[in-house]
Amino acid sequence: MKELVISFSVILLLHVPGSLGLYDEFTGDISRFLINFSTRETALFTEYPTGVIVDNATYDFVIVGSGPSGSVLANRLSENPEWNILLLEAGEEPSWVTDIPVACGALEYSDYNWGYTCEPQSGFCRDCMDGILQYPHGRVLGGSSIINYMIYTRGNRLDFDRWAAMGNPGWSFDDILPYFLKLESAHLAIKDDGYHNNDGPLSISDASYRSKLVDVYVKASQEAGLPYVDNNGKNQIGVSYVQTTTKNGKRSDAENAYLRPIRNRNNIKIQKASRATKILIDSCSKTAYGVEYVNDGKTYRALATKEVISSAGSFNSPQLLMLSGIGPKTHLEQLGIPVQSDLPVGKKMYDHALFPGLVFQLNDSIPINLVEEIVNPLTYIQYSEGKGFLTSSNTVEAISYVKTNISTDPDDSYPDIELVMYGISPAADHGVLIRRNYNIDQNTYDKVFKPLESKYTYQVSPMLLHPKSLGRIELRSSNPLHPPKFFANYFTDPENEDIETLIAGIREIQKINRTPTMQKYNATLVRTPLPGCEDIEFDSDAYWECAIRSIISSLYHQTATCKMGPKNDTEAVVDHKLKVHGIKGLRVIDVSVIPVPMTAHTVAVAYMVGERASDIIKNDYGI
Ligand SMILES: Cc1cc2nc3c(=O)[nH]c(=O)nc-3n(C[C@H](O)[C@H](O)[C@H](O)COP(=O)(O)OP(=O)(O)OC[C@H]3O[C@@H](n4cnc5c(N)ncnc54)[C@H](O)[C@@H]3O)c2cc1C
Ligand SMILES: *[C@@H]1O[C@H](CO)[C@@H](O)[C@H](O)[C@H]1NC(C)=O
Ligand SMILES: *[C@@H]1O[C@H](CO)[C@@H](O)[C@H](O)[C@H]1NC(C)=O
Ligand SMILES: *[C@@H]1O[C@H](CO)[C@@H](O)[C@H](O)[C@H]1NC(C)=O
Ligand SMILES: *[C@@H]1O[C@H](CO)[C@@H](O)[C@H](O)[C@H]1NC(C)=O
Ligand SMILES: *[C@@H]1O[C@H](CO)[C@@H](O)[C@H](O)[C@H]1NC(C)=O
Ligand SMILES: *[C@@H]1O[C@H](CO)[C@@H](O)[C@H](O)[C@H]1NC(C)=O
Repeated sequence: MKELVISFSVILLLHVPGSLGLYDEFTGDISRFLINFSTRETALFTEYPTGVIVDNATYDFVIVGSGPSGSVLANRLSENPEWNILLLEAGEEPSWVTDIPVACGALEYSDYNWGYTCEPQSGFCRDCMDGILQYPHGRVLGGSSIINYMIYTRGNRLDFDRWAAMGNPGWSFDDILPYFLKLESAHLAIKDDGYHNNDGPLSISDASYRSKLVDVYVKASQEAGLPYVDNNGKNQIGVSYVQTTTKNGKRSDAENAYLRPIRNRNNIKIQKASRATKILIDSCSKTAYGVEYVNDGKTYRALATKEVISSAGSFNSPQLLMLSGIGPKTHLEQLGIPVQSDLPVGKKMYDHALFPGLVFQLNDSIPINLVEEIVNPLTYIQYSEGKGFLTSSNTVEAISYVKTNISTDPDDSYPDIELVMYGISPAADHGVLIRRNYNIDQNTYDKVFKPLESKYTYQVSPMLLHPKSLGRIELRSSNPLHPPKFFANYFTDPENEDIETLIAGIREIQKINRTPTMQKYNATLVRTPLPGCEDIEFDSDAYWECAIRSIISSLYHQTATCKMGPKNDTEAVVDHKLKVHGIKGLRVIDVSVIPVPMTAHTVAVAYMVGERASDIIKNDYGI
């Protein structure tokens, strides 16, 4: 009951006033306040009592960060009763609100997000709010798996075979498939034999809510030449209904799958609201022996007799390493940080850019009608049965992997574009929230999307899988509480291949929409030009380049900031056992070690890395 009331109030208060035109200009503050209020009022806050903090307490392993990788490690390492584990997490506990799949976009405006933004750069985000690309990132027990969109995709076999070929034995697809199996409990109608399992901690399910549109779209995609596949199975290229990290219509995440069941083990301490500020390293022996952290304004130390593990994620692991003297020598020296190991930390960052500006209009009510769903009391009753609109993963309904005709990859099974199909468009909530998730500014919204508010529309967005443009992360200062500096560097590759690939993705989407099946609903591309692109012939390649440089979103899949690779790889920070080069007793275990841009969203691989690394560590100690 409590759950019902809360879900109702959050969704209602967030979306309806705007949708009904009660205020013209929504300010994010209202959303932020409501989410803030509701999460605080309803947070579990009792499941993980901190108790008395003992300074200089000693453990075998100290793990920093409770995202998917860190939570798996905490769970698996504490299976050994001989080991004492401390898990430190900067954020608080998740809440009822975070269980509601459709609420995820709003969680970006809560304390569960670190709230990072990129440095403003030219060449992209011309029509983004304040010209800035947002980089949301989870700060909560469970990490980004608490605020993410729950899309579950493992990646292409070749991704992992390429990790191995880069000098990382033990990470080929055949090596890591057992770990993908170990972590999941699959509840899927269509799945390939040998690629799924049903007794792991994390629940993977088909969406229990589907629009009429998605069935049409999946059929049309097949008509356009994409086979129907289990994209976590044998072949990746093709179209699939989305597989999600949900269980009975609620979010399945690192906290409820891996931490909650073990929180009472007496050899593990799970300590929230504790932010690591430094890894303690003995500079003579180059050995990590603990961490310094802040809880409630006070500084403490936790000591590790065996290892310190940084699982702080692709942004904060590089930050923590650099604060501790592990990073590019000149950068650290400029900030006055004594250098412990000169490594290319943060120098390379892959990311997945998604173009949210491709919208189609239909002549029938087959897309999701968001406003109708929100005001319908049935929505809330259905949720209590694990069904209905609130169980939707932010309205993402189908995922396709395609290899466009401009890809130069020698392998035919390696896609270069993902098509993310949503049962709505940014007009669906009348500009309240969705446009903000995509960084779309008010002026652009009013011109392009507002006229669509009463129409039947939906969106398919191309996501660039293997960018040639590389981002990077630097420290802003030596103050551990300052956010790092993010340079997304989108579309800076000299050959302009990233833009061209996204345009090739747009052409694939247009092909799907030209099929007889989509034309039964008169699927028509919305032709309102984006501000600043009016003078270019609509639908020309030049037009789409202009449009892509106007509005863009990250899909938050940053990797490689602490890249895995052998010692002679000049980009590598950790080796294939995820040990930091040049420092003893220290590993980085999270998505920052992934050496390639994944052909996937990254949460699946984050769990897998945690599972695989747990076995590597147990092996190293003969367990
Ligand atoms: C908005 C959003 C949507 C996404 N949607 C999807 C999706 O649909 N599908 C998908 O596959 N992937 C998605 N992702 C990406 C995916 O969630 C991440 O790749 C994944 O969670 C990474 O896991 P991780 O273990 O590396 O670390 P993270 O999830 O980043 O967790 C790191 C944890 O460490 C904590 N931490 C950081 N610094 C410190 C410190 N100094 N001291 C203590 N604790 C610290 C953080 O608070 C956080 O809890 C999304 C991400 C975001 C942000
Ligand atoms: C969220 O809550 C915290 C603590 O109560 C408060 O400091 C912060 O200002 C709130 N933020 C918003 C946007 O209301
Ligand atoms: C913990 O160790 C540090 C460094 O040795 C020391 O300065 C501090 O006083 C110790 N704290 C306690 C409570 O013993
Ligand atoms: C790719 O296909 C598009 C049409 O969708 C065509 O215009 C273009 O010439 C093709 N490019 C190559 C390299 O074949
Ligand atoms: C199809 O869509 C176009 C453009 O929106 C519109 O002009 C036309 O009337 C529609 N046709 C039907 C049959 O709905
Ligand atoms: C939608 O348009 C198609 C043709 O483009 C037409 O056959 C169909 O009847 C129209 N449907 C409605 C509900 O108008
Ligand atoms: C790195 O060393 C391995 C052998 O350990 C060798 O096979 C590889 O070619 C080397 N790579 C580079 C870039 O030198």
